Amino acid sequence: MSVSTVAALSTAAVDQTVCRDTTASLPVLGRDVTVPLVTGGEVTYAALDYAASAPALQRVWDDVAAYAPYYGSVHRGAGYLSQLSTDLFENARRTVEEFLDCRDGDQVVFTRSTTDSLNLLAAALPADCQVFVFETEHHASLLPWRDARVTYLNAPRTPGEAVATLERALAERDPHGPALVCVTGASNVTGELWPVRELAAAAHEHGARIVLDAAQLAPHHPVSVRELDVDWVAFSGHKLYAPFGSGVLAGRADWLTAAEPYLAGGGASRKVSRRVDGGVDVEWHESAARHEAGSPNVIGAYSIASACKALTEAGFDALVAREQQLIDTVRAGLAEVPEVRVLSLFGDDAPRVGVISFVVEGWNSSHFAAALSAEYGIGVRDGLFCAHPLVRTLLGSDPQTQGECGAPEAAPGEKSLNAIRVSFGAGTPDEHVERFVRAVKELVRDGAQWNYRTVDGRCVPAV
Ligand SMILES: Cc1ncc(COP(=O)(O)O)c(C=O)c1O
Repeated sequence: MSVSTVAALSTAAVDQTVCRDTTASLPVLGRDVTVPLVTGGEVTYAALDYAASAPALQRVWDDVAAYAPYYGSVHRGAGYLSQLSTDLFENARRTVEEFLDCRDGDQVVFTRSTTDSLNLLAAALPADCQVFVFETEHHASLLPWRDARVTYLNAPRTPGEAVATLERALAERDPHGPALVCVTGASNVTGELWPVRELAAAAHEHGARIVLDAAQLAPHHPVSVRELDVDWVAFSGHKLYAPFGSGVLAGRADWLTAAEPYLAGGGASRKVSRRVDGGVDVEWHESAARHEAGSPNVIGAYSIASACKALTEAGFDALVAREQQLIDTVRAGLAEVPEVRVLSLFGDDAPRVGVISFVVEGWNSSHFAAALSAEYGIGVRDGLFCAHPLVRTLLGSDPQTQGECGAPEAAPGEKSLNAIRVSFGAGTPDEHVERFVRAVKELVRDGAQWNYRTVDGRCVPAV
């Protein structure tokens, strides 16, 4: 392939993908990977842990592979490939801007992940900023604000209660100082959608700003900064089918430009000079580069842009409809097992993405998840999903008795204090969720066919 234009790289990859697979709307890598079962034989791996990290889209992989020979340094080199890579990086920024339907003047900063994006925003808060955050948030949204004045809001039981709770809290705040609300778009525990537009309206009515944690929303639903009227959005590439180490913080430039650079170093600085007194003066960039010190992760940014294009071209309407079928299959299957309790804040009718957590009466969740893996080749997650307060609220269990994130506290067979999470999205075949439902029913009815033991706090097959 010649290096004529950056666009040529991605167009070639699109054409290959369209020819390769017309059955699944967006094929992912790993569809043919087989894994051994403890009970004998092999099965294709059912990756049902998308909420942690989704498989790479085939299109993303193809785009990255097509670009890889042309990889070069960004922003620094005089050579052709450096210029091409710089174009690719800056074009990726524009693609993300379009994907998020950003306003004029918004900045797209490439970070390492959602966690990194929210910590960056936390470091850029104006002095005396008050922060409002629901206790139901993922730790990435819950914890970065601890140096500010934080109000933790109790878990609401309806979307309307969420808005009313926020309004009450904001009404009591000092109306003159700056304030920020941080809210998730879709829960990483229940998959339920939060009333982002209404929360944004409440925030703005009380003179506060709002940042949307779209880590679980962006892979499943369109996110329009303009329509939702949020001030910032954060998401991670590896949950958006682009596992190359990048994330995004997009939104208003003013707080970011007024803040000290997140990292001090090359790329963030425009001019550095020695002072007569021996010190150093620095002029920092005012663009997104201010918070992107160091050599940018061009492949990470390019892969996110590739995923944004692929999702947009596939069409979110089709993706949402397909995912809803999978959600219905899983929820209907689980509803047929009386021992299973699905965790929910907002109730059965709440709109949700393909993230479902549950507990099974009489089972340790780690044991259950280990059996799903070892006996059925199904990868799910067990634990508290880095949302300890929410999972504890939903389980109604004693906070003091819980283990660390992902670490079970009980031996196989004991009552569970953790939960199991199944999650899916683009490229998930029907067979994976059907196998999952069958496995749940068989495990509950017949018990595990193998012995398991706890090693380093996790259940594993005994042999
Ligand atoms: C809702 C939510 N926010 C934030 C994060 C943190 O994402 P990352 O680990 O990519 O920083 C996660 C990860 O699971 C999440 O589910």
